[in-house]
Amino acid sequence: MSFTLKKGLPALILALMLSVVMIVGSASAATSQDFRIVKASDPTQTSTADGYAVKPASVANDGETVTLGFTTSSLYSINGLSISHDGGATYTPYTGTTSGGVVYYTFPIYDFSENAKAKITVSVFGLYNATHEIQIEWL
Ligand code: HEM
Repeated sequence: MSFTLKKGLPALILALMLSVVMIVGSASAATSQDFRIVKASDPTQTSTADGYAVKPASVANDGETVTLGFTTSSLYSINGLSISHDGGATYTPYTGTTSGGVVYYTFPIYDFSENAKAKITVSVFGLYNATHEIQIEWL
């Protein structure tokens, strides 16, 4: 019994240390990315959508997979986010995942030096339904 414990303990400690390293490693895998949502009509102005955005966004290890959240409420919902990857010619729709009252969208950004053109679909009480053009300025 004492023989197996002697042998097993170092292995157990090693496994514990390894899992701590792995947990710490996975937690630091994403980096935070600050941003501001600006108006498509005038990108020098902050958009209404900025007030609903959760700051900062996060970028995965690959350096291009962004996850960005918007708060949701019983009054309004964010029903969709489309991002243009070609400067505004075409838009790719992304499906949100809701967690803890925040709807998260994950999409790739290949160039953080320019604003991402996007469209956000909002519904308030089912009365105000609108798709607005916005731009995400990476800070
Ligand atoms: C809480 C209730 C809300 C009301 C009553 C409201 C009302 C309005 C009105 C009247 C306009 C100007 C007219 C138009 O462009 O259609 C507008 C614009 C806009 N709204 Fe809302 N809205 C609400 C919530 C939201 C939410 C939750 C979002 C997004 C997260 C949003 C995003 C926008 C955007 C992007 C614009 C275009 C102008 C800009 O970029 O600032 N709104 N909204």
